[in-house]
Amino acid sequence: MASKTILRIGHPLLRTISSPVTDFDTHELHTLILDMFDTMHEASGAGLASVQIGVPLRVVIFGFQHNPRYPDEAPIPETVLINPEIEILTNNTEDAWEGCLSVPGMRGLVPRYNDIRYRGFDQYGNRIDRSVSGFHSRVVQHECDHLDGILYPQRIMDLGNFGFIDELTQYRIMESASLPCETSDD
Ligand code: NI
Repeated sequence: MASKTILRIGHPLLRTISSPVTDFDTHELHTLILDMFDTMHEASGAGLASVQIGVPLRVVIFGFQHNPRYPDEAPIPETVLINPEIEILTNNTEDAWEGCLSVPGMRGLVPRYNDIRYRGFDQYGNRIDRSVSGFHSRVVQHECDHLDGILYPQRIMDLGNFGFIDELTQYRIMESASLPCETSDD
């Protein structure tokens, strides 16, 4: 198991559609997921898609008990989510600042649906079915976008609300004390 290099925006794999997983509980899948957790933990991220480490499969991980980068956020159970499907439960959206390990040093203001239901499988093939809201909902939407080749800058409504973290915090456009919606970080 090892922490892997994270692909950055501009790498063509990040724009591809990832393929469904067909075989569960395999050595290859378990190794991939351990590598993903090592990589996410080393970066203090809240989530990661396998394509970000160069494996274009429909596998995402997310979750944390306590993360110093999101001190105000409630814990999200550490989750492996494979072949996910998202159902939007309400059309209410919320804007919040979001980041990505593949877009290091930057943040953008992104609207996401407040309430979603997500379904999929864990690495053993067990079904997952959860209805969530708030930050949990945001993280899942962000990670699942990766599976369709979408990075969060493509979701920013006004590119005036996109920039480097140090500039955004220095000029108090974004509060440095809480980066509630960084789903991953550099
Ligand atoms: Ni990301």
